[in-house]
Amino acid sequence: TGEGSLASKGTGRGSRRPAGQPGRQDWSSWPHYDAAAAGFRGYWYPVTWSSHITGKPLPFTLCGEKITLIRDGGTVYALHNRCPHRGVPLSEGNQQFPGTVSCPYHGWTFDLPTGKLCAVITDGPDCRLTGKVEVKTYPVEERLGMVWVYIPVADEEPPPIDEQLPEELVSNGFVMGGRIEPRGGNWRFACENGFDEGHAKYLHRTALWRLFKAMPTWNITRIVPQGRWIFRVQDEVHWEADFPGVGRWSNKRWWKQQPPKETFNLGNTGKADKVDPTIEAQEFPGFASLSMPGVLRIAYPNFIHYEFYVPVDADNHRYVGVMVNFTEGWKTLGFYAKYLGAIRWLFHGQFSGQDAWMVDVTDAPPEKLYRPDISLTAWRNLSEEEYGKKLAAVGAAGPADEKTGPANGKKG
Ligand code: FES
Repeated sequence: TGEGSLASKGTGRGSRRPAGQPGRQDWSSWPHYDAAAAGFRGYWYPVTWSSHITGKPLPFTLCGEKITLIRDGGTVYALHNRCPHRGVPLSEGNQQFPGTVSCPYHGWTFDLPTGKLCAVITDGPDCRLTGKVEVKTYPVEERLGMVWVYIPVADEEPPPIDEQLPEELVSNGFVMGGRIEPRGGNWRFACENGFDEGHAKYLHRTALWRLFKAMPTWNITRIVPQGRWIFRVQDEVHWEADFPGVGRWSNKRWWKQQPPKETFNLGNTGKADKVDPTIEAQEFPGFASLSMPGVLRIAYPNFIHYEFYVPVDADNHRYVGVMVNFTEGWKTLGFYAKYLGAIRWLFHGQFSGQDAWMVDVTDAPPEKLYRPDISLTAWRNLSEEEYGKKLAAVGAAGPADEKTGPANGKKG
């Protein structure tokens, strides 16, 4: 929809829509996106830290589906978190036998890899239901120290998770620090906020992080697609300004060093003499980029910050923010010290808390967009196109075809 998307699409309503109802009146130009209130299905999502999942089952909600995660013999399993007998959450249960989880109510016991009922403790070995009843299972992987779960569109096999991770995280060694936090508000507001060009300069004007990483007062931006990412490219950047409420902006420390188009040699200062030959150089045309299903990448010269906006349901999301430094060996100590001593508090704390506030207080007002919102409409256009392709690939109906199809985020 391009430039035309910058105009408001309708009059909208001033009040918060009832929980669980997808969509907003003025997103009709992006029907897939509009319908994805509880997230886009067909993607791998990070759910929690790997170290949090043990033999004791824990409950999570992802794309509106209730899931229990449990570890057995080193492998993590994900099951629908409802016992098919009387609906008690399996996350309240425990492991009576290796490789299984037992419901705490009547002892129905499910095989973890298949979800099949394999024993009924209260009905003995002759129970006729064993092998005939099952609880749904979900594909699970562990990457970046986290547990990832795939939410299918229909019943399709998941693509390899590496195809959906940021490509530089698949092939390089790195160290990482991060924060996972449940947050109020819809995942789309969190995602749009992350890529929103104007907010960094105003909402974050009081963030201490800005003392270290400056932001321009305003700029002229272009959106450049590259592979599955869209990049915000700053064509014209203005550093100096004296605005009431914003104060004097003159911190040019590292932005000024950036050439218009950069090749980052990940994990170093960008200077050729410090390149680690084992690390693949990446060419990023811009500082900020975004890809499906809501992954923000901010490429600083010596580390990359990612934000995964993980849909819980229509009114809640999970913030997964990680900072990655592409070094290995003893150099990782320096990064950890910097992360724990400063970045975790300045960025993943105060700065990111300002974003969390915005998403939490935003409901579904009508919108009237302005020029810097090209970043939002470009993202919506990207997601619309990509999701249309995904649905076609798995042979599923979209919101334009079927109002209650799986793409609308069915409830678990
Ligand atoms: Fe789970 Fe009865 S409700 S065994």
